[in-house]
Amino acid sequence: MNNQFDFSRREFLSFLGGSAAALATPAIGFSAPSLGETPPLEPATPRSTIKSLPASTVDDLVLADGIRSSILIRYGDVINAAGERFGFNNDFIAFFPLHKDEALLWVNHESPQGGLMHGNPGVLLGGTPKTAEQVREEQLAVGGSIIRILRDSKTGEWRFGGNHALNRRISGLTKIPFARGVSIAGASVATGTLANCAGGVTPWGTALTCEENYQEFYGELKGPGGPSWEKQVKMPDHHHGWTEHAKMHPWHYGWVVEINPRTGRAQKLVAMGRASREGATVTLAKDGRAVVYSGDDFRGGCIFKFVSDKPRDLTRGTLYAADVGKGRWIELSWSKNPLLRKRFKDQLDVLLHARDAGLEAGATAMDRPEDVEIHPLTRSVFVALTNNPDRGNQHGSLLRIDEADGNPLALEFNSSTFLAGGQESGFSCPDNLAFARGGDLLFTTDVSYGKLNRGEYQGFGNNSLFLVPSSGPDAGRAIRLASGPIDSELTGPCFSSDQRTLFLSVQHPGEGSKVVDGKLTFTSAWPSRETGGKPCPALVALHNLPLAGASARS
Ligand code: FEO
Ligand code: CA
Ligand code: CA
Ligand code: CA
Repeated sequence: MNNQFDFSRREFLSFLGGSAAALATPAIGFSAPSLGETPPLEPATPRSTIKSLPASTVDDLVLADGIRSSILIRYGDVINAAGERFGFNNDFIAFFPLHKDEALLWVNHESPQGGLMHGNPGVLLGGTPKTAEQVREEQLAVGGSIIRILRDSKTGEWRFGGNHALNRRISGLTKIPFARGVSIAGASVATGTLANCAGGVTPWGTALTCEENYQEFYGELKGPGGPSWEKQVKMPDHHHGWTEHAKMHPWHYGWVVEINPRTGRAQKLVAMGRASREGATVTLAKDGRAVVYSGDDFRGGCIFKFVSDKPRDLTRGTLYAADVGKGRWIELSWSKNPLLRKRFKDQLDVLLHARDAGLEAGATAMDRPEDVEIHPLTRSVFVALTNNPDRGNQHGSLLRIDEADGNPLALEFNSSTFLAGGQESGFSCPDNLAFARGGDLLFTTDVSYGKLNRGEYQGFGNNSLFLVPSSGPDAGRAIRLASGPIDSELTGPCFSSDQRTLFLSVQHPGEGSKVVDGKLTFTSAWPSRETGGKPCPALVALHNLPLAGASARS
């Protein structure tokens, strides 16, 4: 109860902007409560008139009729007096209300792009070996940012609040302890967090950030054997070209990291296991224990569930992996499972190789499970299965998991496909998910670089943001609300408390930029076309989304 990540009761209440009654409401965990009166906005587009954008290959953030956008902050913007800067390739966003018109955002920074940052994309993209200074610049640009934002009381729109003592960076160089003092590869403190893809928000007001493709930074060690490791070692394990100048132990990455956005304190949650996790979505069991769902974004990765031993503490608990065929959660406990005891030497060994442990114990190899979200009304668990060309699955799907009796502690579940990608549905490769309070589902797509608008992916346009309405004439259909610039991915959709604003990351515009004939050539100019500039990732706010009930709120 009193670990350093736990807000005091008073701090927690002030954080929620609510009263003691808020704590008694079981649903507090997920939808941060609305903070009192909100200024009126123009009504959203009536539900019956939602018109899908056509697929677009335009180098811009193109929006469906009626939606407006503004850029809050972009890579390189200074955030505090110490001169720290907003990092590169922003991804997951978490919203933490402070007061009525003031909030903090935690924002992930997944990866660097040397070509766009300092002009040297590295040897894999036609550049040269990176210098120590270039590697350090990149280490400082990953991890996450904590930024304070303010709402205009007249327009209701949010903007970056400028330099502030609450604004901080957690980077690839920040010292972060392993929870409970666990020692991994001889150290109880890791240097930095990286590959921060998606994440989650805990009911006690901390952010979770997931270290997804960690092997691209400091490589990976060959594990205890098995099919996933054979594939893993084929991956470009020094993709970013850091290891010449920065040598960290690969086992220090691949964890879920918990961050207190008020203080910047961070810890790596060893008990949740190590994998290429996309995100970590938290709900509460009736007894107050936290249940965290996550996908391991890997061709053949597992869906995990973690149940904490105690309320408000993710440092101890039980890890499960999903056997989707049989509809059961398999406990990954070394002491209880002879299959795990045979292959791993102890529970830490199981946790270090959570994917292999899951597969060894009978969990289902999934087609790149990415984001997970919980339906706000039905409590069904939705998982984006992005794709798996190895198994002929080009376009992916959304999987729905219904726990037995609606109990997140259940060991059995039913599952079904909610929506499949493809020509008929009009989307391909679903990735991040976000539910609006009324049950509308937003999701983004991630057709990977090099495949966008080519071959089987022709006709799907640039990566986009889709809405699946929960009601009305378009219920259950995927409607394109926004289309990203060339070679970008729209990531991290996150609502403000009043759901009037959707924060969204425009990640890696111009990802395909590389050195051609000795000259760095950009494939996108977003968002700085006016300066003839190079592409730059940025965080945008979208307003006036056509959500269920939006027009009724005022
Ligand atoms: Fe970083 Fe699975 O996307
Ligand atoms: Ca992602
Ligand atoms: Ca999400
Ligand atoms: Ca992705």
